[in-house]
Amino acid sequence: MRIDVLTVLPKLFEGPFSDSILKRAQDKGLVEIHLHNLRDFSTDKHKNVDDYQYGGGAGMVMRIEPIAACIEHLKKQRDYDEIIYMTPDGSLLEQGVSNFLSTQQNLMILCGHYKGVDERVRQLFITREISIGSYVLSGGELAAAVLVDSVIRLIPGVLSDETSALTDSFQDRLLAPPVYTRPPDFMGHKVPEVLIRGNFNEIEAWREDQAIKRTQERRPDLLD
Ligand code: ADE
Repeated sequence: MRIDVLTVLPKLFEGPFSDSILKRAQDKGLVEIHLHNLRDFSTDKHKNVDDYQYGGGAGMVMRIEPIAACIEHLKKQRDYDEIIYMTPDGSLLEQGVSNFLSTQQNLMILCGHYKGVDERVRQLFITREISIGSYVLSGGELAAAVLVDSVIRLIPGVLSDETSALTDSFQDRLLAPPVYTRPPDFMGHKVPEVLIRGNFNEIEAWREDQAIKRTQERRPDLLD
């Protein structure tokens, strides 16, 4: 998979993309992440990418020209399955969307800033708008990092135990059951007997039961 990220703050991605699972996925050649600084596509002498909004009001708006130039430049080189815009008024990111995106070849992700992008960018280029939650971040970069992480970990070969992504919370619309490791007894707080006995069927039944209980208690909306 190839992911192109369009941003005015490429440095924000250095941390999340250069460590742990995302780094390993790139080192193994399973994913290529390319960062593009939108300022490089500004023809303005100060490399400006934003301007005042028509009609007045506080907050700057990202101009269409640098974004269009960057998108057209990339589209000339390959076809994109999705051109995604990170925005608080997009549709809420859910596991099913990450599952779908993890099966695609080429993704482009546009990070908004200030008041957002000129509406014509959305009309002309964007195929999907995603929000990571009902709150406003200072820009789309952290949201894009969240999206990229949730997608890349699903690509076969990225996680060392390939089944582990399938047993995540949300994969079957249930939260994951509790997990334990050693010691079996921490100051009187014991690991459930069933896990220690080691009967596979019993353990599976217990996990299913716990997952349903936890979902009923914490996220009953998932069971609707
Ligand atoms: N940009 C700003 N806030 C955001 C959010 N909640 N989700 C996606 N992109 C955003």
